[in-house]
Amino acid sequence: MIGGILEVRNLTKKKDQTAILKDISFSVQKGELVSIIGRSGCGKTTLLRCINCLEVFDKGYLRVDDIEVSRVNGEKPQSNAKEENDFQTKARKIRQKVGMLFQTLDLFSHLTVLENIILAPVVVKKEPKEKAIERARELLEKVGLKGYENRYPYQLSGGQSQRVAIARSLAMNPEIMLYDEPTSALDPELVGEVLNVMRDLDREGMTQIIVTHAMSFARSASDFVIYMENGEIIEIGSPDKIFDHPSDPRTEAYVRLFRE
Ligand SMILES: Nc1ncnc2c1ncn2[C@@H]1O[C@H](COP(=O)(O)OP(=O)(O)O)[C@@H](O)[C@H]1O
Ligand SMILES: [Mg+2]
Repeated sequence: MIGGILEVRNLTKKKDQTAILKDISFSVQKGELVSIIGRSGCGKTTLLRCINCLEVFDKGYLRVDDIEVSRVNGEKPQSNAKEENDFQTKARKIRQKVGMLFQTLDLFSHLTVLENIILAPVVVKKEPKEKAIERARELLEKVGLKGYENRYPYQLSGGQSQRVAIARSLAMNPEIMLYDEPTSALDPELVGEVLNVMRDLDREGMTQIIVTHAMSFARSASDFVIYMENGEIIEIGSPDKIFDHPSDPRTEAYVRLFRE
């Protein structure tokens, strides 16, 4: 173990014989905010899904807090039932430690804001309803939506929906939050309110990984930035390094697109 709350080592993921993640390695310390940037199709979503164990990788090592999973090169995961079970058990534990927010607004449309937030704590974690409601109210206040308990998703703006979705994830007390382009589906004037919630969570010490095209946010809020291309990490570094002094010409070519 190298330390940090998240460690990814030599992770490779294939789809249809093609490697869509190649030898990915990085680690994240508790409380850090990490941005992952790169062109569409470079593997950002797949990487988040592997970290959250929504997808099984083919090779490499993943550790979230104290839960480790690994795959050996060429191994068929399904070839060994006991190992597969073991993997799935650990994957479940990892999913409990990692919250994930998607680009699309995915609240349950037939449930109120409050019901959306308490559903998993009550149904999955068997928390007493009163306690879950109390916590949901605190979380709504944290994301700036005090008083929105009884609204339905159709009565929310996109920015408000994403903030409820963040509160819903936080209700499960994750150790790490992953966000996949959380502001890409939003009107520009609503982007800031979602990013500000992440800044607040950062101040409180939450560990967060954000796939984003919001470059000014990545530059100002990240502890470090990962630039990916074709399933590979091309460069990892401070915002200053990645945006102003990249060492790889491919990084330079990408970040140049966002310079004014
Ligand atoms: N289910 C799938 N089957 C085959 N290829 C896929 C599948 N999902 C994604 N891919 C491919 O994997 C690559 C990475 O996709 P993705 O992780 O969604 O990239 P990004 O999030 O950076 O846009 C892309 O080339 C995409 O076409
Ligand atoms: Mg994606």
